[in-house]
Amino acid sequence: MAVNNLLEMKNVTKGFPGVKAIDKVNFSIRPGEVHALMGENGAGKSTLMKCLFGIYRMDEGEILLNGVKVNLSNPAQALNAGIAMVQQELEQVPHQSVMNNIWLGRYPTKGIFVKDKKIYSDTLDIIKDLNLAIDPKAKVSSLSVSTRQMVDIVKAVTYNAKVIVMDEPTSSLTKVETESLFRIIKRLKENGCGIIYISHKIDEVLEISDRVTVLRDGKWVATEETKDLNTDTIVKLMVNRELDNRFPEKTTNWGDVNLKVENLSTFYPPLLSDISFEVHKGEILGIGGLVGSGRTELLETIFGLRRKAGGNIYINGKELTLKPGKTAIDRGIVLLTEERRETGIFPLLDIRWNTVSSSIKRNTHKIGLVSAKKVRENTQWAIEAMNVKTVSMRTLISNLSGGNQQKVLLGRCLLREPDIMLFDEPTRGIDVGAKYEIYQLMLDLAAKGKTILFVSSEMPELIGVSDRILVMSNGKSAGIVDAKTATQEQILQMATKYL
Ligand SMILES: Nc1ncnc2c1ncn2[C@@H]1O[C@H](COP(=O)(O)OP(=O)(O)OP(=O)(O)O)[C@@H](O)[C@H]1O
Ligand SMILES: [Mg+2]
Repeated sequence: MAVNNLLEMKNVTKGFPGVKAIDKVNFSIRPGEVHALMGENGAGKSTLMKCLFGIYRMDEGEILLNGVKVNLSNPAQALNAGIAMVQQELEQVPHQSVMNNIWLGRYPTKGIFVKDKKIYSDTLDIIKDLNLAIDPKAKVSSLSVSTRQMVDIVKAVTYNAKVIVMDEPTSSLTKVETESLFRIIKRLKENGCGIIYISHKIDEVLEISDRVTVLRDGKWVATEETKDLNTDTIVKLMVNRELDNRFPEKTTNWGDVNLKVENLSTFYPPLLSDISFEVHKGEILGIGGLVGSGRTELLETIFGLRRKAGGNIYINGKELTLKPGKTAIDRGIVLLTEERRETGIFPLLDIRWNTVSSSIKRNTHKIGLVSAKKVRENTQWAIEAMNVKTVSMRTLISNLSGGNQQKVLLGRCLLREPDIMLFDEPTRGIDVGAKYEIYQLMLDLAAKGKTILFVSSEMPELIGVSDRILVMSNGKSAGIVDAKTATQEQILQMATKYL
């Protein structure tokens, strides 16, 4: 019996200068189905979906909606045809309210007046219906990344979309938020929506999807019923080789205390209060806790992005005070931020400048001119060390796949040859194979005597990579545990200590 497809993409091909990002790919979705799209960083997942959503024009191929060929040449047409997309890199207007972002460009009007009250009540209805707690009048910039992702989902619902693409929707969601997203997905399924779900999180894909399609190097590799798959078979399809997925062996011996934090507190919420700890040379200190517990704030305060209300930070026994014009980078500290789009990349610059931007001095001749040769050499080093998938170092960073952008940022941090590295969710959006390369890299750095502070919401990597784990709870330290003996339950329990 022929299955009725809600949507079919046939023979889709899309190239960019130097790469065939998508090569004759077939993909379909049935009503009420969650269809996961998987593949390594740069495999072509986002590109395929951007072709569907009218962001990119396909070189070849066709799209059928309910069996009828459609021509979607921009997102507005896609939305009107019932296709919505929650993008990997959110496109929102930060200084506008939630409701304005949702209704942008299609406000219900009365004469020339926008019906603010109606927008408000309509938005609130949908938010309530989806069981969310978001204030329609809140400014988008005041929301967490996860809430902002939810806003895009609300938007998709307001378009009455029949097909909703979610490109790594849970990459910055907590477990609880992910559960509520899954409830929303189930609700949408019941309404006959088809959901295309892109994720690197295999457990989630196994839990939520009905079918899985895997792409590799822009080509279709397989489409299978999820019930016939498991973690190993998915990984094998993605990377075309076996991965043992074991955390690299640790051989590190610690040296002296390198970073000492004493009674640290901050002014602004989420308040940090009275945090003290020491980290040694060669040590990886994991920082666990729930989202909002102050993990990012702790890294930012050490880095000098937030003002201390009290307490001291010492590096190698010497107090860290930042004089005007000096940054923590000058004291050998680097920070890899959690939100690359906002605080990490320079989207209009190419890979070279994104790589060397924080080590300009190192790339400069004595007389003060930037050396093109040094820039080239350093960028080449970073591309190789991080295994960045790109055609050229002159490619704009915004044209790299999400995971590859993250690798460029890691390369940038390492070029500084810092002594202390503050990594906030370093493997977010990174595919399974590359994740283990990053763990190995962190352990190699530690073996060279570097100090690493490592925030992660993924328990297995937090326990697998760290030496010790500082657990944050509501802005306070709930204690430090030895990663060798720590369990997930223990860490979760500590994380709720001060709630
Ligand atoms: N606008 C663009 N210009 C040039 N190359 C591009 C552009 N967009 C994507 N590419 C290239 O196409 C390939 C596929 O990228 P895509 O973003 O689709 O990967 P992905 O599967 O979504 O990866 P990730 O898991 O990292 O998000 C990559 O090699 C990428 O560099
Ligand atoms: Mg992508």
